[in-house]
Amino acid sequence: MITGANRGLGRALTIAALDADHAVVATVRGAHSLPEHERLVVQQLDVRDRLAAFAAVAQAVAEFGRLDVLVNNAGYGLIGAVEEATEEEARAILDTDLLGPLWLSQAAIPVMRDQRSGHIVQISTVGAVGTMPTLGLYNAAKWGLEGFSEAMAAEVGRFGIRVTLVEPGAIDTDWAGGSMRFSSPIAAYDELRTELFGTATVPWPAAEASGGTSPEDVAAVILAHVRELDDPRLRLLIGDDAPGQVEAALKLRHEDYERDPRFHSRESDA
Ligand SMILES: NC(=O)c1ccc[n+]([C@@H]2O[C@H](COP(=O)([O-])OP(=O)(O)OC[C@H]3O[C@@H](n4cnc5c(N)ncnc54)[C@H](OP(=O)(O)O)[C@@H]3O)[C@@H](O)[C@H]2O)c1
Repeated sequence: MITGANRGLGRALTIAALDADHAVVATVRGAHSLPEHERLVVQQLDVRDRLAAFAAVAQAVAEFGRLDVLVNNAGYGLIGAVEEATEEEARAILDTDLLGPLWLSQAAIPVMRDQRSGHIVQISTVGAVGTMPTLGLYNAAKWGLEGFSEAMAAEVGRFGIRVTLVEPGAIDTDWAGGSMRFSSPIAAYDELRTELFGTATVPWPAAEASGGTSPEDVAAVILAHVRELDDPRLRLLIGDDAPGQVEAALKLRHEDYERDPRFHSRESDA
C-alpha cells in the first residue's frame, strides 16, 4: 500500500512494485493517471483524514487478504521562516507529513501484528537529521515522523513488523517545484532567502528537474531494501548527496555535545 501515488516517488514506487510482480493498493486524492493493471487497486485517500486512513487499510485487507508493506509517501514541503508560518500552514503540514503517517501506521499495525509480519516504510528525508533555514516546519514534521517511528520500531519488532525510515537527498519530482507551498514573506528574511535561493522572491517559479536522484532510482533502492529481509537498519540513506548532508548534521550535534565534559567522560568510559 503506497500513499500519494499519483505523482513523483509514490508513482515510481507503484510502477516498480507492479513490475516486480507485487500487488499494489495505490492511494491518491482526486483524479489520477495511474495505468490500468490487474494487480493495482487505486483508492481515494487524503492522509490527513484518520477515519479514512483506517478505512483505506481495511479496504486493502478486504481486497488482498493481507497487508505486507505500507509506504507512507504522501507529503509536501513549506518554504517559510518560523516567524512567517501561519497557524494554518503549521497545522496543515503537521497534519499531512506527521499525522498522516501516524494514522496509517496505527491502522496497519494490528493487521501486521495478527499476520506476525509486515513492513512500514516511512518516506522521511535527510532534513529529518539536520535542518535548513526556511524549511523549519517541514523539518519539524519529518523529525516528528522519525521520533514516533523509531519508538514504534522498538515496539513492533517483537510482532515481526519491520520499520524503515527512508532518508533521501534531493529527488527529481515536483516536491521543490509545483508542490512546494510558501508562507507570505517578511522583508526581514529577504537577505536570507537570497543567500539560500539566489532570489528573495517567493513563490519561486515551479522548477523543472531539480538535479536530484530520479524517482525511479529511489524506488528501486526502496524495493530492494524491502525485499532484503535480513537488513536490520532503521535508516536508509538514498542519493549521492544524502550521506554528506547527514554527516554534516551529525557533526554539528556532536560539536555541541562535546562542549559538555560529561559527554567525553561517558565516551571514554564506554
Ligand atoms: N523530492 C524530494 O527532493 C524529496 C526529498 C526527500 C523526501 N521527499 C519526500 O518524498 C515524498 C514524496 O514526495 P515527492 O518528491 O514524490 O513529491 P510530489 O511529486 O510533490 O508528490 C507528492 C505526492 O503526495 C501527495 N499528497 C500531498 N498531500 C497529500 C495528502 N494530504 N493526502 C494524500 N496525498 C497527498 C500528492 O498528491 P497530489 O498529486 O494529489 O498533489 C502527490 O501525489 C514526500 O513525503 C516528500 O517529503 C522528497
